Amino acid sequence: MGWRGSRIEGWRGGLAKIEPLDHTLYSDLNTRAVHAGERLPRPDFSPVSTPICPSVGYLYDEMDDLDAIFAGDRGGYVYARYGSPTVTAFEHAVAVLEEAEAALAFGSGMAAIHATLLGMGLGAGRSALVARDVYGATFAMFTKLLPSQGVTTQLVDIADLDQVERACRELKPTLLFVETVSNPLLKVADIPSLSRVAHAHGAALVVDNTFATPYLCRPLALGADAVVHSATKYIGGHGDALGGVVATSAQRRAAIYEVLKITGANLGPQEAWLLLRGLKTLPLRMARHCSNALSVANGLARLGGVSRLIYPGRHDHPQHSLCTRLFGGRGYGGMVSFELRNADQSKVFRFFEALRLCLPATTLGDVYSLVLYPAHSSHRALTAEERATVGIGEGLVRMSVGIEGPDDILADVKQALDTLS
Ligand SMILES: Cc1ncc(COP(=O)(O)O)c(C=O)c1O
Repeated sequence: MGWRGSRIEGWRGGLAKIEPLDHTLYSDLNTRAVHAGERLPRPDFSPVSTPICPSVGYLYDEMDDLDAIFAGDRGGYVYARYGSPTVTAFEHAVAVLEEAEAALAFGSGMAAIHATLLGMGLGAGRSALVARDVYGATFAMFTKLLPSQGVTTQLVDIADLDQVERACRELKPTLLFVETVSNPLLKVADIPSLSRVAHAHGAALVVDNTFATPYLCRPLALGADAVVHSATKYIGGHGDALGGVVATSAQRRAAIYEVLKITGANLGPQEAWLLLRGLKTLPLRMARHCSNALSVANGLARLGGVSRLIYPGRHDHPQHSLCTRLFGGRGYGGMVSFELRNADQSKVFRFFEALRLCLPATTLGDVYSLVLYPAHSSHRALTAEERATVGIGEGLVRMSVGIEGPDDILADVKQALDTLS
């Protein structure tokens, strides 16, 4: 498909008859101020970079066209909650990178997860099987919000395929939900095996691919039925836009779209533009995140102040070879988790306050190196007992290794650790 063929449907169409206001007919400055400059004649050029299109409503030559779009009989835009051109461009890009038939964007990763679950049939009387150590808000959605609406949830250790198999057989779940690399314990999901087990029992597999990104892993090609992202993270990559997206079949997208149209958790056009721009450098950034994270992990493992280090790129990670296989040797991600020796919350906080380069901010996947304390932020929704069961200790730190110089990152962590002794 050439560049002409990749033009977004609806972006330039339909302006043949609609013209700018003839200002000679209207002398009132109020009328002129409202309409002047709008609906200029259709240009004969295409902007290189997709424009931000903030319009909420759309005009067509014939009202029948508007009606046909409402009916779903032809493509186009009617109202921004139903879709808008800049958002379509972002969805198109994600679908291409995830090798999906289609994608659908949302205002946040959690909105994408929520609508995906509903659109894939999770509702009263249905059940879901969920990886035990997923992101805190996802955990809360499955263990609190959805059960309050009549959904049954069971947590499983996805590294134990027999356990998953047994749970599938007993529960007959609508879907199995896992993260490619879990947050924050960095367990790696054996997506091909999990999809075989889920499908054998009639369940769909939904994968949160936020940590791996399509640079490292494309779960749909490995058997998953839908892939969700917090696009806020590596996809955007610069910490300046909140968004979410699901990539899946055209048929599933249509069902999830019906949920979006009603619940309205849409991605805004400004954010879509930032995410689309971020996506262009995803492979470059990911390659650097991966190589930096490996250097930082190896450096941290040698420090006395660190009692436990988790990084899938190290041979001591229990799923190191699985990860090599799944990610094709392209790297192991930019996330490193570690336990500070004999640490409680106040010691972790002192460590964070001593950092100069790495930022203690509640997010991940940015160009900046970031540290987070799961017990008080990403996994605050869990009780202390739930955190202990999952394996999130009081001294656990999650680090999102940025794209700065790796020696600078490691030196900063070392000097901050030195202040604790
Ligand atoms: C793995 C994972 N999934 C989903 C989310 C939720 O994304 P958002 O904050 O964009 O709603 C997060 C947020 O940190 C996450 O880490």
